[in-house]
Amino acid sequence: MSTPLLEVLGLRKAYPGVVANDDVSFSARQGEVHALLGENGAGKSTLVKTIYGLVRPDAGRMRVEGRDYVPASPHDARQAGVAMVFQHFSLFEALDVAENVALGMEVPPPMRELATRIREVSETYGLPLDPTRLVGTLSAGERQRVEIIRCLLQDPNILIMDEPTSVLTPQEVAILFETLKRLRAEGKLILYISHKLEEIRALCDWATILRHGKVTGSCDPRRKSARELAETMVGSELTLPAARTREPGEVALSMAGLTAASGAAFGTELKNVFLEVRRGEILGIGGVAGNGQDELLAVLSGELRSPAESILLGDLPIGSFGPNERRALGVLAAPQDRLGHPTAPDMSL
Ligand SMILES: Nc1ncnc2c1ncn2[C@@H]1O[C@H](COP(=O)(O)OP(=O)(O)O)[C@@H](O)[C@H]1O
Ligand SMILES: [Mg+2]
Repeated sequence: MSTPLLEVLGLRKAYPGVVANDDVSFSARQGEVHALLGENGAGKSTLVKTIYGLVRPDAGRMRVEGRDYVPASPHDARQAGVAMVFQHFSLFEALDVAENVALGMEVPPPMRELATRIREVSETYGLPLDPTRLVGTLSAGERQRVEIIRCLLQDPNILIMDEPTSVLTPQEVAILFETLKRLRAEGKLILYISHKLEEIRALCDWATILRHGKVTGSCDPRRKSARELAETMVGSELTLPAARTREPGEVALSMAGLTAASGAAFGTELKNVFLEVRRGEILGIGGVAGNGQDELLAVLSGELRSPAESILLGDLPIGSFGPNERRALGVLAAPQDRLGHPTAPDMSL
């Protein structure tokens, strides 16, 4: 057997009150798409941030191509051929694609040359992208391509992707998978983080499964059912909650043709949105990230104001109320972004 491209041996990382990675070991080979699978909070992001030199482990070792690998920073990681596409993008919306790529490079080539290289990489790997487009006008999937191309320009041996499909449409997922298969055929190692089991079964050659910071199993995900994988992830037999049938109550909250501009520079405008939630009801809102969900939450929480009558709490018009007035009326919002919205993210409950 040849030496694994990446070996992780007994990594540990503790944060106050939680051991994010607890004696984590796994190895992966070139030409492999290797899944890191686990529930929210299982320690996946901490693990790959350690591999990318962003987090210093408390204990444990790593090896790349059989040699000791101790990255003190992402710069060291890149030097060793490790690249990472983040879960949350770090792009400047007011700059174009090529300018954004240049900002991430240590020694950027002249802009015209860079634009040519971006076009080449984008064609080679089937990732359509125009280097002159302003990033603020790109979809989430296109922004991710900017990040991927930025990584590929470094010609990495190991490409880390943290939950890449959470922001993609099904069509964009299909394009991404073609790209990843191509990279695998070139002999690259892809570390692929996800909790979407069907995706992992469709794409990955091997899976390391994490729970509460520990490795709880590893397997060829194509040989396991989604249910078996889920059980290794959550650590017990899955019991699906029984849906209760109950007559819905009176209308608790309604929105009648609400239209609101986004507060953010490149946000999505809400146009003529109708919805109605009754007591005892859970209303799900579907859609690919970036299609107005953030704005909808903002108008519901009161961060974005709208005409009073556009939102009714029972019969009471609340569209013009701010967050505090709404909270006093019992309307609470839990935003997706734990770090941007809360005022005291580090305090315990
Ligand atoms: N910088 C940090 N400071 C404190 N706790 C953290 C930090 N990063 C992660 N954690 C905690 O470590 C655990 C694992 O987190 P994470 O690696 O992000 O998991 P995953 O990516 O699998 O969702 C969680 O309990 C999380 O709250
Ligand atoms: Mg994560």
